[in-house]
Amino acid sequence: MRVLLVGSGGREHALALALNNSPSVTFLLVAPGNPGIAAITRIAPVSAEDVPALVNLAVSERIDLVVVGPEIALAAGLADALAQKNIACFGPTKAAAQLESSKAFTKTLCEAKGIPTAAFATFDSAEEAIAYLGTIQAPYVIKADGLAAGKGVVIAPDFQTAKEAIHEMVDGRFGGAGARLVIEEFMTGEEVSFFALCDGKQATYLGSAQDHKRAFDGERGPNTGGMGAYSPTSHATPEFVRDIMARFIEPTLAAMEKLGMPFCGVLYAGLMLTPTGPKLVEYNARFGDPECQVLMARFEGDLARLLMACAQGRLGAAPQFRLSDQTAALVVMAAQGYPDDPIKGSEIRGEVGAQAIPRGVLLHAGTRRDEDGKLRAAGGRVLNAIGLGPDLQAAVDTAYQVVDAIDWPMGFHRRDIGWRELHRGG
Ligand code: AMP
Ligand code: GLY
Repeated sequence: MRVLLVGSGGREHALALALNNSPSVTFLLVAPGNPGIAAITRIAPVSAEDVPALVNLAVSERIDLVVVGPEIALAAGLADALAQKNIACFGPTKAAAQLESSKAFTKTLCEAKGIPTAAFATFDSAEEAIAYLGTIQAPYVIKADGLAAGKGVVIAPDFQTAKEAIHEMVDGRFGGAGARLVIEEFMTGEEVSFFALCDGKQATYLGSAQDHKRAFDGERGPNTGGMGAYSPTSHATPEFVRDIMARFIEPTLAAMEKLGMPFCGVLYAGLMLTPTGPKLVEYNARFGDPECQVLMARFEGDLARLLMACAQGRLGAAPQFRLSDQTAALVVMAAQGYPDDPIKGSEIRGEVGAQAIPRGVLLHAGTRRDEDGKLRAAGGRVLNAIGLGPDLQAAVDTAYQVVDAIDWPMGFHRRDIGWRELHRGG
């Protein structure tokens, strides 16, 4: 099978490794990829946002399956354009990707289907939104409706901060994303990222992970795209998985099919385990980053055949797969200034080659290799250090060995990945 993988982050580096390990894959091309991916397979300099160029690439390279990493390509209609050319795509159409690209769409679907989520209201103007604040209690959860790269959520402790956040969103801090607002009930509890593979009609559980959203140790600092992850989590018991599939994933798939927009791809439920049970924080229409990396570190099977079965609507005939009993932990190494204004261009030394640290892996997430051969930071989240082990402590220790081998003074990372689970004694 000839596979084109779209994206350039740590998520795509992990997917590229797993696709490269798939016995069915004879050719793997990644667009645009990154220097870490270039070390294991071919890359093509085509942006993940350039739908016509990606389609041309898929046609000229006689690609059988396109696997889409980032939401931006999905929301731009890559799956729709590939369908026109009869090329199988693992990733939803633009309409189905609304589960991620429109919070208002998802909240309305949840309400109609009785899927547990925070109470909410949607607004098209700042005045109406501010008037509504007077009728509810602080803290206030204010979200831009559209895609905002994980930064479209403000949790305001008081009325004044909430009012300012509303004005900022409406006045265009998030571009078009802020034109419509969602205000939600504030929920408390631990968060779990839950992943299901979907073929439009059926879904199968892939795995769960815990993300670490805040920038700094002790859950301080701004929300980010994710600073670390581990898998498995002790919450994901077989009963929990059955419950989430039955009350969240399956009704969502059925509703999407009925709406004429069947969902094919990864349905990623961000769940909060509240005192009254799990509730949906958000859906994403793609693999989480960095959660995907810890799932792929444990994945055993032919990933390409599995994703092809989803893309062709025949998950029932998909090959067997499993996640190993190992625990995987991941530490994100980010550029100073991330998430607001990461400093780009700083040099990274001491790169950890394959197998340099037993059971440790270094993935590239936002790097570039310059003509002088030096590796430099080219994004917010720059490197991912992964450790595998028989338990979380061993996995975390190995991940930090990988981190500590890197010489990059302009980077920062959290030192407390896995703290919740480790404090539980798990
Ligand atoms: P989202 O982009 O919707 O995933 O939100 C980002 C983060 O904001 C979530 O992972 C939560 O930590 C937090 N958050 C979002 N919605 C709520 C809510 N209704 N109550 C409390 N925290 C929330
Ligand atoms: N790590 C959170 C996300 O991928 O949205």
